[in-house]
Amino acid sequence: MEKIKFMNGESVPIEMHKARIIQKIRLLPIDERVKANQKAGNNAHLLQTDQVFLDMLTDSGTNAMIDKQLAAMMEADDAYAGSASFTKLEAAVQELFGMDYFVPAHQGRACEHLLCRVLIKPGMTVAMNHHFTTTKGHVKLAKGEVAELLMEEGWKAESTCPFKGNMDIRKLEELIAEKGSGNIAFVRMEAGTNLIGGQPISLENMQQAGKICKKNNIKYVLDASLLSDNLYFIKQREKDCHKMSIQAILKKICSCFDIIYFSARKLTSSRGGGISFRNEEDYKKVRDLLPIYEGFLTYGGISVREIESMAVGLMETLDEDFISQGPLFIEEMTNLLLKNDVPVVTPAGGLGVHLDARRFLPKVPQEQYPGAALHTALYLVSGIRGTERGAMSEDRDENGKEVYTKMDLLRLALPRRVFTLSHIKYAVDRITWLYQNRDIIEGLTFEEEPATLRFFFGRLTPVSDWQKNLVKKFKEDFGDSL
Ligand code: F0G
Repeated sequence: MEKIKFMNGESVPIEMHKARIIQKIRLLPIDERVKANQKAGNNAHLLQTDQVFLDMLTDSGTNAMIDKQLAAMMEADDAYAGSASFTKLEAAVQELFGMDYFVPAHQGRACEHLLCRVLIKPGMTVAMNHHFTTTKGHVKLAKGEVAELLMEEGWKAESTCPFKGNMDIRKLEELIAEKGSGNIAFVRMEAGTNLIGGQPISLENMQQAGKICKKNNIKYVLDASLLSDNLYFIKQREKDCHKMSIQAILKKICSCFDIIYFSARKLTSSRGGGISFRNEEDYKKVRDLLPIYEGFLTYGGISVREIESMAVGLMETLDEDFISQGPLFIEEMTNLLLKNDVPVVTPAGGLGVHLDARRFLPKVPQEQYPGAALHTALYLVSGIRGTERGAMSEDRDENGKEVYTKMDLLRLALPRRVFTLSHIKYAVDRITWLYQNRDIIEGLTFEEEPATLRFFFGRLTPVSDWQKNLVKKFKEDFGDSL
């Protein structure tokens, strides 16, 4: 996808694809959204999709398929062992990552489970640029500890740093000196760092950390779930890479790592996941666990049709027209919001647009979950749902105390090829209206709070009548029917 210049000098991202299958969506009138929100306990995870107009909860498993993927699904080879579909996938992964050994798994977190089981001994540390929720969960289950080594700039919502997902290399060296390399289970780099706004890592940073791992004999692991956005950003933003092909950049990235795993729900528009290994010994340890947790080696808990779709979809990672679509739409929406003074995470990253709930709602204290409050407010005035990425997404500590995050964000994911620019304009309009009426919005408290991953099933309630006032103001401006 490219930005094409219009007569008035404006540059607009133009899709290099056309839609031939569509799904109908509808916008419920505001009174029905109020009821749906109440029924869902102010938690968008508990809404039904027919109550949602633009579903920006995630890109996970919701990117639009490519025609060639659908075609490939028609000739899948259903066999318990030795499936030809698996052989195709294995060959595609070997070509893409340049590693000899591969195991499939039913999704990204299943890869994390297997790797943590095999690589972590109790008390060991896993060093990361930043954790993802499921990664941290599996490190903890294996009785390991997470060391978060994100560069300081990564914690700033507003920045001009092109690679806010970078690891602080000095901190990595200090950690190795402090713990001893034998106590570090592995170093994990997460491409397109999810929880801090889809921010990329530079090739240079991946290479620097890789050298240190090699010198200290520590395994170096890439979470490639969000690699396609990251590849695009390296080509656009890294000085030495502008003229390189995506394939050449990918080759350089892969050559740094010992292990690469991915969620195919995110990396391609299919299901499943998988792990590539450079080393046969690590591969065999994981492979031997596979039949207990996932299924036989040649399906790994994934349907063979999805395996066919994965094999084709993985190759989209190398197609600049495809991998640029998400980042360019995200940049477009971020710029439109910035024009209207709405606080968003900058620079625009991958995965989605991230509203900075802390700056949006400075009067809502963290214990009343500004990200979640903004989320319900947005649903009420627009029918859009996203995902809170902040205090509500963390569970309480062992003493029942809140764990406060450094940022409170509302992520509005833009699954690839699903939304149009008019959807984006609608979202920008309603978010801007909300920003202009932000004084009405107050916080939420838990009515029902699960002990783990509370953001999925927790039910909340507003601390006052603020939602009624917000709806009243909306109707004054737009009428009852929208
Ligand atoms: N790693 C990263 C960076 C992810 O973003 C995810 C999922 C996973 C691992 C786990 O993969 O869902 O296939 O088990 N992210 C989704 C999201 C859930 O909405 O951001 P999975």
